[in-house]
Amino acid sequence: MPGIEGIDRVTYGVEDLAACQRFFLDWGLKLVREHAAGLDFESLNGCELLVRKSDDPSLPPAVEPGSTLREVIWGVRGEPDLEALRTRGLRERDSVLVGVDPNGIGLGFRVTRKRAVDVAGTPANVWGHAARIDQPSPVYERAEPVEVGHVVFFTDALDETTEFYQALGFHLSDRYPGRGHFLRCSARGGHHDLFLLQTPEAKRGLNHVAFTVRDLHEVIGGGLHMSRCGWETQLGPGRHPISSALFWYFKSPAGALVEYYADEDVLTENWQPRDFQPSPTMFAEWAIAGGIDGNTRRQRQG
Ligand SMILES: [Fe+2]
Repeated sequence: MPGIEGIDRVTYGVEDLAACQRFFLDWGLKLVREHAAGLDFESLNGCELLVRKSDDPSLPPAVEPGSTLREVIWGVRGEPDLEALRTRGLRERDSVLVGVDPNGIGLGFRVTRKRAVDVAGTPANVWGHAARIDQPSPVYERAEPVEVGHVVFFTDALDETTEFYQALGFHLSDRYPGRGHFLRCSARGGHHDLFLLQTPEAKRGLNHVAFTVRDLHEVIGGGLHMSRCGWETQLGPGRHPISSALFWYFKSPAGALVEYYADEDVLTENWQPRDFQPSPTMFAEWAIAGGIDGNTRRQRQG
């Protein structure tokens, strides 16, 4: 199976470039290029987030109206891994193998351009394992995401889309039978890089794009900064029982939601997928509706 390492680039098609520029700068990405076609952002490890106008003819067609995600490029380790994907109905575009998944979302593979970065979360002192000695844990004034860690799509073709990604080398991590499949792009790695969600309305589209940050403290510091900047929380902070991750979701002018998350489960080939029934407490063990107000550190009333 090809060595797929994770998400290398995501591309949005949006209606309001200026709002997206403010939003992703506040979110903690670096604007590396601003040009006629749009905006090129990068996370700490060089994962790219491109923002283009929604009517840009070079983008794969949108699967829903308005601003949304148009393409996900996955990074592979090297040329042999790319070679292994060459016969899967994908075509070549500037050293990237591109195609469309059964859900209609543009996808592609390229040799990863992400770089190793010297970034580390803060160890936690848990009972029986003190990993932080003579070292206070930090307070983050804002977040600087390490990378795009996962994407989540609504689908009306859950099984077909899952089989498509499994044939490319993805592994099933957990599922809501008939409703949602958590997939990871390699046997060893974070709990999910892709989550496919089939709701009773059976629509297609983006649910969210998730950005990995160092630790819980950066989830909170990043969320408080976004709140101070005036951006609206959808839900968070909170904790997912499936994947164990701590999260904070914001409404994004680029479409749907974005998420800061940290401390997800790391799986290996020994992991056995589990089945769950969807429910609010399966989605979040706990969560703060409306976020924490960044100015008062208390929830706004009403
Ligand atoms: Fe997520």
